[in-house]
Amino acid sequence: MRGIALFGKIRFLDTTLRDGEQAPGVSLGTEEKLAIARGLDSLGVDVIEAGSAMTSEGERLSIKAVADSDLGAEICSYVRALCSDIDVALGCDVDSVHLVVPVSDLHIRCKLKSDRESVISQAVAVTEYAKDHGLVVELSGEDASRADQDYLASLYQAGIEAGADRLAFCDTVGVLVPETATEMFSRLSRLGKPISIHCHNDFGMATANTVAALRAGAAQAHVTVNGIGERAGNASLEEVVMTLESLYGIDTGIKCQDIYQLSRLVSRLTGLPMSPNKAIVGENAFTHEAGIHVHGLLKDTATYEPMHPETVGRKRRIVLGKHAGRASVELALREFGLTVSESQLAQIVFRVKELGDKGKRVSDADLQTIADTVLSIQMEPKVRLEEVTVVAGNTVTPTASVKIQLNGSERLEAGVGVGPVDAAINAIRRAISGVADVRLEEYHVDAITGGTNAIVEVWVTMAMADRKITARGADADIIMASVEAVLEGINRLMRLEEEDKAKCRRA
Ligand code: KIV
Ligand code: ZN
Repeated sequence: MRGIALFGKIRFLDTTLRDGEQAPGVSLGTEEKLAIARGLDSLGVDVIEAGSAMTSEGERLSIKAVADSDLGAEICSYVRALCSDIDVALGCDVDSVHLVVPVSDLHIRCKLKSDRESVISQAVAVTEYAKDHGLVVELSGEDASRADQDYLASLYQAGIEAGADRLAFCDTVGVLVPETATEMFSRLSRLGKPISIHCHNDFGMATANTVAALRAGAAQAHVTVNGIGERAGNASLEEVVMTLESLYGIDTGIKCQDIYQLSRLVSRLTGLPMSPNKAIVGENAFTHEAGIHVHGLLKDTATYEPMHPETVGRKRRIVLGKHAGRASVELALREFGLTVSESQLAQIVFRVKELGDKGKRVSDADLQTIADTVLSIQMEPKVRLEEVTVVAGNTVTPTASVKIQLNGSERLEAGVGVGPVDAAINAIRRAISGVADVRLEEYHVDAITGGTNAIVEVWVTMAMADRKITARGADADIIMASVEAVLEGINRLMRLEEEDKAKCRRA
């Protein structure tokens, strides 16, 4: 721990299901809230703010479902300073309420059309009511960062006297800076009750402000998964946790290795895609372009990674393109757990560069497919393609000619078909006829990645006598991918037939 003044263990109140759901366009149903709540609970957050009970009947059902689902975390509802809000929260079986009162003059006058004294008496009355009904109360100041800090302290003091268990300070429009957060929390932490920091990210400072407040004595951080929330969002759970863990060496008690999985779930259920450069959970957070960084990473990953991707449940990705060298391809393959020979590596690098030259960024899936193809081709093919030429168009019958090596001798054949792929496959089948009677039973094609220059993966089911196998090929050119799949299938069928014959001879 590097000089953090702590109230005790740092606690996390996750508000993905309340403030996160207030992100434009997000609406979560009961099952979705339950799935996220379970994820948060198993991650180890202390409090789950499951929603705002007064919002709607559907919201109440969801909050109640979360509260009744036997989770370890405290389940909380957002409420205004109204006894009727406490009543609906009680109907949802929650453990606690996040009781929010506006505290800046701007909010008190413009929004509430009230005055400072009335806000305090309302907060006190509702805190007492909630306590009388057995709820844990977190009394929260909305727009606290723009409030008169003496007034804020007197409101908190009145709340404590009325029985509030915790306090919360909302930087509602994200205007705090770490220095101010430090100053304000140094004072507020003397009130003697645990106080939460709730930051918004309007200036991209939510994480820094949250950490500054924790350093100055805040006991609990309000966070959301992926930082989702109103406008620019809230302090993100993954950023705050990993900053504390990795940069301050604090054990937060959060199961960091499950962070990414939960991030994906939240992104999928909220429909909010992750920006590629989002810290910790963005697509690029552990992705490296080929080049000088990869040489560093090969020697020691710490050269260009501030933490191991596995710490947050991720994997390192190496993006390859035409600049890819042997080192980066080797490292990328290593990430898949693949070790290849020098000559296999050379072939894989050649294919990667070939795609790169076509302006293509080689994805994991592309590389995996290329590697699989090269590795299977290494098994001494009986049939090897030397040339394929295809003629197609709207006024010609699709025709293909192929030159192959079959068991060491050259064969040249032509074939026609309903399209260029069909013609190429027919030409190959004719070229091997008499040696292997192979049938194509199924043909399936997928574009692994988007765009007209996407790598294409072809799956075929091939049969010889009563044996069937599936094979695949991958290339940016659909004809070449098809030819590769068919040849792989033929080679495997011929090898299997040879093995059968050998077994018969031995028997
Ligand atoms: O940011 C905020 O002020 C809030 C309160 C309404 C709790 O989310
Ligand atoms: Zn908020």
